[in-house]
Amino acid sequence: MSARAIIEVQDVVKVFSLGLVRLPERPPGTEPTAIEQLIAKLPASDKLHRRVEAVKGVSFSVFENEIFGFLGPNGAGKTTTLKMLLGLIFPTRGSARLFGRAVTDPEARRKLGFLPENPYLYQYLTGNELMDFCGRLVGLSAFDRRKRTSELIERVGLGHAADRPVRKYSKGMMQRLGLAQALLGEPELLVLDEPMTGLDPIGRKEVRDLMLEEKKKGRTLLFSSHILSDVEMLCDRVAIIHRGEMSAYGKLSDLLRADARHVEIEVAVTDDALRSALSAKALRVDPMGDNTVFTVEGDATADAVIDEARKHGARIVAVTPRRESLEDLFVRKALVSGG
Ligand SMILES: Nc1ncnc2c1ncn2[C@@H]1O[C@H](COP(=O)(O)OP(=O)(O)OP(=O)(O)O)[C@@H](O)[C@H]1O
Ligand SMILES: [Mg+2]
Repeated sequence: MSARAIIEVQDVVKVFSLGLVRLPERPPGTEPTAIEQLIAKLPASDKLHRRVEAVKGVSFSVFENEIFGFLGPNGAGKTTTLKMLLGLIFPTRGSARLFGRAVTDPEARRKLGFLPENPYLYQYLTGNELMDFCGRLVGLSAFDRRKRTSELIERVGLGHAADRPVRKYSKGMMQRLGLAQALLGEPELLVLDEPMTGLDPIGRKEVRDLMLEEKKKGRTLLFSSHILSDVEMLCDRVAIIHRGEMSAYGKLSDLLRADARHVEIEVAVTDDALRSALSAKALRVDPMGDNTVFTVEGDATADAVIDEARKHGARIVAVTPRRESLEDLFVRKALVSGG
């Protein structure tokens, strides 16, 4: 991996102000409450503001030619961070730089392709027309617009619908068109906010392949996602964000605990007392058809579960050792740590 940082985010904070507190209306003839009296006495500038601290000091860098995954549950602050990075909103504190320049620098933005979370695409244009329009915005010549449009529309699998108005596109088709427009200017950096959302499994695979192709061409990619299997397949490094704070950051191979050797033991157990006894030793218990899968940590516990199950005549269907997955890490970092 080259050491050149394409994206540098340094301790960014974003506080959204939702305006003044609105107190419920007081029924006529009733006296103001103590809190209402107190607020009435405050000068206007000090009145209580409702604020949302969407991002609370996030820092990370993305290096040239890597695919970086930005993960977090709903409302974690991913889109807000990406928007700050693109100069669409401004951080309350902290700084974000692209290609070593301020995010508002046109030189930095010229090299950027962006797929927003809910691409707003002008509904009355056809796919081809919309691409032509976006091509004008990024300053492509008429020849290049035609060439790139037909290449990209095919590449995202919309060849059959290129002359249909966008309002007649399905959700997944809009997502594909959004991706095609992000690629129009042959950007060095692609920022994709949930590129797999709304896509069927084939579409997801196509997008994964497309992202890998871009990487092969030397491009840098940052994307947010909830689809952990896609992240695991694509990313060099990841950041996990939860409630505006980063809870994990680094190479997947370093973050996934090698020591946490989990073993899944599938048992055909019908006896409730045995099921509870085995569950007490397990980290997780999941039904699997008529059987139950007990996930335990460490070989000694696995032996104890197997011994106990067999002693009670329950059949062991499968024993599968498993390294920690990104899903385990996500739950461990994003959900458990934040409560
Ligand atoms: N313009 C805004 N004004 C006020 N609050 C906002 C605004 N935009 C986002 N927020 C709040 O900031 C927090 C983070 O939102 P954000 O959209 O960044 O989450 P996200 O990680 O992208 O979630 P999702 O996975 O659902 O897309 C949420 O609590 C959200 O309500
Ligand atoms: Mg979002």
